[in-house]
Formats: sequence, structure tokens, C-alpha cells
Amino acid sequence: MFVKKTVYIRTFGCQMNEYDSGKMADLLQASHGLESTQSPEGADVIVLNTCSVREKAQEKVFSDLGRLSELKVLNPNLIIAVGGCVASQEGSVILERAPYVDVVFGPQTLHRLPELLNQRLQTGLPQLDISFPEIEKFDALPPARAEGPTAYVSIMEGCSKYCTFCVVPYTRGEEFSRPLSDVLREVEELTRKGVREIMLLGQNVNAWQGTLDDGSDTDFATLLEAVSEISAIERIRYTTSHPLEFTQRLIDAHGYLPKLAGQVHLPVQSGSDPILGAMKRGYTALEYKSIIRRLREARPGLSISSDFIVGFPGETEADFAATLKLIDDIGFDGCYGFTYSPRPGTPAANLKDSVDEITKLSRLKRLLEKTDAQAAAISQSLVGSRQRVLVDGHAKRERHELRGRLDNARVVNFPGDARLIGQFANVLITETARYSLRGEVVTLS
Ligand code: SAM
Ligand code: F3S
Repeated sequence: MFVKKTVYIRTFGCQMNEYDSGKMADLLQASHGLESTQSPEGADVIVLNTCSVREKAQEKVFSDLGRLSELKVLNPNLIIAVGGCVASQEGSVILERAPYVDVVFGPQTLHRLPELLNQRLQTGLPQLDISFPEIEKFDALPPARAEGPTAYVSIMEGCSKYCTFCVVPYTRGEEFSRPLSDVLREVEELTRKGVREIMLLGQNVNAWQGTLDDGSDTDFATLLEAVSEISAIERIRYTTSHPLEFTQRLIDAHGYLPKLAGQVHLPVQSGSDPILGAMKRGYTALEYKSIIRRLREARPGLSISSDFIVGFPGETEADFAATLKLIDDIGFDGCYGFTYSPRPGTPAANLKDSVDEITKLSRLKRLLEKTDAQAAAISQSLVGSRQRVLVDGHAKRERHELRGRLDNARVVNFPGDARLIGQFANVLITETARYSLRGEVVTLS
């Protein structure tokens, strides 16, 4: 019997990586007929799509590789490829530390993966390509594929902000915007495959810049307007944005574009001005608060989530107290908190990592207790309300139930007919759970 060859892709890190992994699967399916599989055992090709944004994520890659090398003993024809930010940062070091790796490629060369695979098979030699050929990546990717009513669309690559703690500008390269017509074409293609909600992706989406047909420059707010005009798209999200280029035009768009979701993820990192300065974030706590105030004026009830780093070099108890105060002042709806970890090659790595690990962890705990309590209060306030949700599939645990997403990105599980999947429905919220809500369908929306 003819057995289909398979690829197993393990994704670490951010949504950009999830998006890239989807593209890798599509590429390898088109070029080598590889079917995706959920387990590394028995796969013919294994791809690790890595993240180096924090030390732990990076070390995990090398421990995973150690385990995968055992599979190569069982199957000497197994191909192991390492992509993503660790590949970009470490390059040939990966081949030295893990000589059984066959292909190393970066976030900007993932479209060359089929070719690298062929070269590996033809020459028997490991292949390495971590260059930044920019536009080529978008041009060479296969058409968008949808697996449900929501989909990611990448609108830009890289980051040019160079926050002092962050490796992304070094691993993904400088900011590079995808042309408006390409973005719109991909969104339209997705709508023909049943997509109703789009997540526009980039490290820094509001730095997006484009050119209109008449040659004039245009900005992220215009891109949002253009996506909004695609009638089959009913909800638009974006991530991640940066406070520095959060213009009044973008703020106003939240008032006049009803398809824009009522939730914005806007990383602040710290509430202390000296720390924000040392991080080179380019704004003060007051400026951040002013953005949020204006956003909420434009769209009352808007949910704001954020990223925080605790224990940045030099962070005192007073600096941390300023962060807690900012959290009290704003009232966040969900947060990602991280303890600072020095990343090789970044300016902050030259500073003394002055906050000890125990203090970092205790600050993280205090921070998350506060933001979790704020999010729980928001969840509680939703009980008894009717919410418009996009039903995106079956519930994770109770597979006979359905799962949908509210405008503010919360997940709600509820009993219902599987024919609702892919549609918007009005759901009465009846209960809150730790990470989700429960509800009952009221009507189709
Ligand atoms: N583009 C986003 C922004 O505007 O800030 C962030 C991208 S970064 C991949 C995701 C998050 O990881 C950051 O917001 C930050 O909180 C965290 N992070 C980045 N570098 C870090 C480091 N060296 N140590 C701890 N956390 C870090
Ligand atoms: Fe990193 Fe700052 Fe860019 S956190 S991704 S350098 S905005």
C-alpha cells in the first residue's frame, strides 16, 4: 500500500510563528505532498518552529532536539529542520550543537524550505539559510488556507523599534509592510473559504505603511478601513500594536469601524517612566494612559490587554509599585507577564541583571494576581448579558458542545447544533469559569 509521507511541525512562541507554521505545512504539502501529523513518532520530516524571545523558550529547543535525535536513530532517513527565531539567532551553532539537524532556516526564508529540503536530499549535506530577503517571502507563499471561520493574515514582518530587551529586530529583521493589495487579496480568498473573522498580524501592526494606486502613502487605519469594506468579514482584530505609533486616526477608527473588535492588545511593559526609558519604549506611563482614555472615548467598554516585563535591570520596588498603579488605573482585561531574561546581543544584556530571580517571580505573582482579578471581575460582569459570538468549533473538553468567541476575545462554551459552526450567534452568558464562560444560544445573529 502507498503510504503518504508526513511532516510534524512543533510551534513555539507567538501568533506570528503559528501563522508561519501554517504556511510551512502548506508549502511542504504543495512541494513534497507531505501530510501534517500530530506526533513526531513516525513522521518523515520534523520541523521545530522556534522562539528565542525568552531564555526558557530557547533552551527548550535544544532539549527537544536532544529527544528528537533518538528518533533519528530509529529512522536514519528522518529529516529534522529548525526554523524560527532561534534558528535565525543561532544559525550554524545549531548544526554544531546538534549535528543531526538537516536544515536550518529563518522566519524570512521559510518559503525556501522545499528547496532547502531538496538540496539536503541531493547533497546529503546540512543546509543553512537565515538571510532576510524580505518581500520574497510574501510573494512566494502558497494561497491562504482556512481551517474554520477565523484566520490570521500577516500584514508586516519584522520590527524596527529595538526595545533594549528584545531580540525580535535581530531575528526577524527590520519592519517590512506587505502591500495593501496583497493583504486584501488574501482576506478575500479567505472569505471564499468561509472566514468571517480576521486577525491581522505583525510585531508592530500600527507601523504598517502602504501606497495607494495614486502613489500616495497610507497608514494602518486606512488598511483597517479597506478590510472593513470586505462585506463577508464581520470582525477584525489585530496584534500586536505599539503605543508609540498609536495615532489619533487609529484611535478614531475604533469609533467609526464597527467591525473592529472591542478588544485591543497594547503592550505597555512597565508603569515606571525610568524603566520605560531604559527599555527604549518611547512613551511615558501618562502617554500610555492617554491613548487608552482616548480609545475608550472612541469605543466605550473597550477591553485592553497588555504585556509586562518584571525585573528589568534596575527595577526598584518603587518602579514596580508604579506598574501596579498603572494596572489599577487602567483596569486590564487579561495580561501576559514575563520575568526579564537577558537576551544575547540586545543592549539590555550589557546591563547588570540586578533583580534576583526570587524577587522577579514574586513581582510576577503579585502582578498576575491583580490582572487576573480584574479580568475575573469583567467576566463576572458579563453574566446575564447577551453577547454576539462567532461559533468557531466544538468545545475543547465537552466535544458535543460548541465554542465561540465574544467581541472581547473571551471563549464561551455552550450546548448547540454543530450547524452553527462558522456563524455568528447571540449567546446568553450564564456562568464564568477560570479561563472561559458558559452560555446558552439565544438566536442566530
Ligand atoms: N511587538 C510587541 C510589543 O509591542 O511590545 C512585543 C513582541 S515580543 C515577541 C512579546 C513579549 O515578550 C513582549 O511584549 C515582552 O513583554 C516579552 N519579552 C520580550 N523580550 C523579553 C525579555 N528579554 N525578557 C522577558 N520578556 C520579554
Ligand atoms: Fe520587540 Fe519592542 Fe519590537 S518588544 S518586537 S523590539 S516593539
